Formats: sequence, structure tokens, C-alpha cells
Amino acid sequence: MEKKNLDWSNIGFSYVQTDKRYVSNFKNGAWDEGTLTDDANVVLNECAGVLQYAQTVFEGMKAYTTEKGQTVIFRPDLNAERMVQSAKRLEMPVFPEERFVDAVVQTVKANEAYVPPYGTGATLYIRPYMFGTNPVIGVKPADEYQFRVFGTPVGPYFKGGAKPITIKVSDFDRAAPHGTGHIKAGLNYAMSMHAIVTAHEEGFAENMYLDAATRTNVEETGGANFLFVTKDGKLVTPKSNSILPSITRRSLVYVAKEYLGMDVEERVVPFEEVKEFAECGLCGTAAVVSPVGKIVDHGKEICFPSGMDEMGPVTKKLYDTLTGIQMGRIEAPKGWIKVVE
Ligand code: PLP
Ligand code: COI
Repeated sequence: MEKKNLDWSNIGFSYVQTDKRYVSNFKNGAWDEGTLTDDANVVLNECAGVLQYAQTVFEGMKAYTTEKGQTVIFRPDLNAERMVQSAKRLEMPVFPEERFVDAVVQTVKANEAYVPPYGTGATLYIRPYMFGTNPVIGVKPADEYQFRVFGTPVGPYFKGGAKPITIKVSDFDRAAPHGTGHIKAGLNYAMSMHAIVTAHEEGFAENMYLDAATRTNVEETGGANFLFVTKDGKLVTPKSNSILPSITRRSLVYVAKEYLGMDVEERVVPFEEVKEFAECGLCGTAAVVSPVGKIVDHGKEICFPSGMDEMGPVTKKLYDTLTGIQMGRIEAPKGWIKVVE
């Protein structure tokens, strides 16, 4: 497979149009058989449910070229499962999980020339999504939907790659206690636009959101879950019903326990405790494992001992093991890697 002539090592996290995308439509209570298409545009009625009431959910995962040259996808079955939960919460039809994985595989296969070569640091980000397409003016779910999958080659989500970032404690809330923070709904990200623009204007890379009810516990950022490392080497990660159940975080918890022999605590993390930790990182498909060097809370700085120059040692071990599994350098747990044949 001849790869496209892109500057793989220097691409950032932005949209690059690839050749093919998958489309399936839901009408009269059923999904059609779905197909790959060249057409990257979506034409919708002016009153489409997604345009009026933001009835849309999405997913994100990556395809990699392994050391041996295979194209693989990391745990797409878990994205399929999470999209079912997202769709149900927004009263959308479920796209069957096996069909989801098949659509992702078809899309990656059709765009294999865009899956970055091994060793470039880039990957193919895959974006499945679904939205209400028919006109809806009273507040109610649409009757017709479109499910699509496209891929786009990406580099690091944060500028500087593995360099520690500085984040701020946000004055805005991302998710309500019984709201939609635990699903991947576009509306959660619309909510975060003002907060992220504000953070960027103030020179921060991201926001730390606290729980909306008490503003005392750590939730997550706009696009990733938190990891903390205690001074005695334990991994601590926040537990909350209003954060996204990150597939990367769930994988890292397993890696920490089973590959690195670490103690792991998934629990409520009071913000007050954060200054006691030795390392902090963000984890997600886009973020992979991104080190946080400093958190600023209304002028008060929390500077982690790992500093602003490089990843802390435990964060680095987690990063190396996870990316080793994804790139085929380390044997993966059964079922984690979907080979595109
Ligand atoms: N939290 C939020 C709000 C996200 O958007 C994402 C990205 O998908 C994550 C966490 C990380 O989840 P995952 O590891 O499944 O990509
Ligand atoms: C992902 O990591 O897949 C996400 O959806 C995060 C987003 C901020 C790009």
C-alpha cells in the first residue's frame, strides 16, 4: 500500500479530507445497508433535528501502523458500545455494534494510504457520528438519522507533543450531575467552547472542570480524563457519573495493574488533594497520555514535582506501555487490537 505524500511528522490535530467515508441512513425504523462514498459533504433540510436541537453523538478512536507494518485499530468494540449508550440517552436509534466495527474497518481500509507510517508519531483518527436528519420543530427526537464514519490523519493533540502543559481550573461547568457528561454528545462540547476559548486566551492549554454540584471534586477536561500519581507510586483516577468513561483510561488502569504491577485507585478525587500528587496527566484517544506540569486555580499555582520539561517517570511508563501495545511492540491483551486485513 503506497502511502500519501504528507509531512507525517509535522501534522497537527486538524481535519485532512481523506478519500472515502461510510454512510448509513435510518428511515422508517430501520438502517439501510450502508456504503462507502467519495462525498464529504452532508446536505440537510434547514430544520433537521441536529441543526435545531443538537441531536448528535460521536465517537473517536485511532488506527495505527504497527512495527510489522500491519494496520490495526484500538478497541473499536468499546467505542461501538459507548455509542449505544450515547444514542439511547439522546433518544436516537442504536447503530448495531458489529455494524459499527465493520463500518470503521471499511473506512480505515478504504483510506489505508492515509494511515500514517510506523514511527512518524502520527495516527489515523477515526470519527464515527450520528445525527437527526429530518425536520423537527417541536422539541422531540427526529425520526430519521444518518450514521457516518470518516478518518483523518493526526499528530499530537497538544502543541509540543509530550511537553507538559499548563491548565486552569474552570469557572464554568461541563456537565450537570444527572445530565449528559457520561456520554459523547456534541452538546457537551458546544457547552465547553466558551470555556476553552477563555482558557486559550489566558494562555492555558485546557480546563480542569470540577463537579458542578459541589465544585470540590475533580471531574475531567474538555476532551480527556485525569490521571494522578501519588508520591508512593499509586495511580489515582477520578470516578464520577458525569465524566466520559474514557476507553484510554480504562485501558491504562488495566495496563497499570497487569503490566506494571501498580496499585490503582478509581475514586472521588477532592481538588484539595491535587497538590499532594507527584504527577498529573490527561488521557484520551486524542490526548493519548499528555503530561500536566502545572494547574492554576485563580492565581494559585500547583506545580507538580515532575516539572515542565518532561513527563513524570510513572506517566512515561504508562505512555510507553500503552503506545507499545497500540503500535505492536508489546503484546496486547486479548481482543484489544483489531487487525485491518
Ligand atoms: N473525556 C472527554 C470529555 C472526551 O471527549 C474524551 C475523548 O474521547 C475522553 C474523555 C477520552 O475518552 P477516550 O479515551 O475513550 O477517547
Ligand atoms: C477523542 O479523544 O476522541 C475526543 O473526542 C476528544 C476531542 C477533544 C478531540
